[in-house]
Amino acid sequence: MIPYSYRDNRLFCEETDLAEVARQYGTPAYVYSKAGITGNYARIDAAFAAAPHLVCYALKANANPALLKMMAELGAGADVVSGGELAQALAAGFPAQRIVFASVGKTDAEIRFAIRSGILALNVESREELEVTARLAAEMGMTAPIALRINPDIDIEGHPYLTTGKSANKFGIALEEARAAYLWAAEQNSLKIVGVHCHIGSMIKKSDPYHRMAETLAAFVADLGKAGIRFEHVDLGGGLGVDYTKVLGEQGSPWFMEPEEMAAQVIPVLQPLGCEILLEPGRSIVGPNGVLLSQVLYRKETKGKKFLVVDAAMSDLIRPSLYGAYHAILPLQAGGAELETVDVVGAICESGDFLAKDRELERLQRGDWLAVMTAGAYGYTLTSNYNARPRPVEVLIDGATHSVIRDREPSLF
Ligand code: LLP
Repeated sequence: MIPYSYRDNRLFCEETDLAEVARQYGTPAYVYSKAGITGNYARIDAAFAAAPHLVCYALKANANPALLKMMAELGAGADVVSGGELAQALAAGFPAQRIVFASVGKTDAEIRFAIRSGILALNVESREELEVTARLAAEMGMTAPIALRINPDIDIEGHPYLTTGKSANKFGIALEEARAAYLWAAEQNSLKIVGVHCHIGSMIKKSDPYHRMAETLAAFVADLGKAGIRFEHVDLGGGLGVDYTKVLGEQGSPWFMEPEEMAAQVIPVLQPLGCEILLEPGRSIVGPNGVLLSQVLYRKETKGKKFLVVDAAMSDLIRPSLYGAYHAILPLQAGGAELETVDVVGAICESGDFLAKDRELERLQRGDWLAVMTAGAYGYTLTSNYNARPRPVEVLIDGATHSVIRDREPSLF
């Protein structure tokens, strides 16, 4: 379900007119749908009901404290990538035993914090990190729960920045090396092998890579089982792709593949192992449920180009600039105006600062509001203060009610 729709040409989130939100809280503003987020989490959770499983929400997609609290209350686990995110997850109420921590560059302080907190697993990404983890845990007189992140050399055929499971990527450990590392880990008193981890990339559009990953992991677990190594869980990472062209409720599902389809591809392969299945979805839960509201400041025309200068910029949403990512843009008040082709740009001092290029939009003018769609994931978490711009306000919609879940950063002037 996508919670956005037009009613009498006005863009709504659930039962709330977004123009009312823009008027009340100002722009730029991030807006999220409570029902959309909880609904997507529940859908993914239910899709795996046939097997013991845990959905560990990836905080990196959106770590607003109110959203995290909502997710923790639903029983989700958390996937974190830094000591900071681990602290955010614990503060939001995720039980430590439901938190997994993957990072290719954990510092000693982060490793100690994770061990001390009693998390479910440190997803270890290199042999050297494994040895450091063993030493630090021994020094603390504790045991570190570990899973090795396997790099299975599977191509998801996506954006190179979003591909993580190829051998040319910095992530994880190759299968042969992982085997030796697990045998070594099994000998260490300060390490407890709890699982095996894999995350091959983000924006996965087909179920086939998940199927291949599950088969690779199943063979690996079976092989190590013969060497006496037992795994409690198999972690398939995140990556379920979102279709950025589907932004309104009437367009159906925002996912390229339904969670049930992914489950059907992996459960039969993994079930015989008797392990719990862990998932780390981020984008698929929050992405389609968030939008960035902005207001048109100026219209501008150069030789052969029309620009719409708006009050949101790459500091508020960097995905178009960084990945050339497409985000649909919709007027909050639609209908009537003729179409024109424009670049939608922000105020930042770089030509790479744009939200859309050569986009056909209804003619908008100074003061009009627009929504940059599908901005719930990797939107606010990737904001910056570049050009001394304050971060936007975040607003949560629940039916016809709305409330601020993080204040706009104060203006410096
Ligand atoms: N688990 C691990 C270990 C990850 O590295 C990631 C994402 C996830 C889970 C969640 O993946 P998701 O379900 O959200 O695809 N900034 C980029 C996306 C970077 C993804 C990084 N890792 C973007 O805006 O598209």
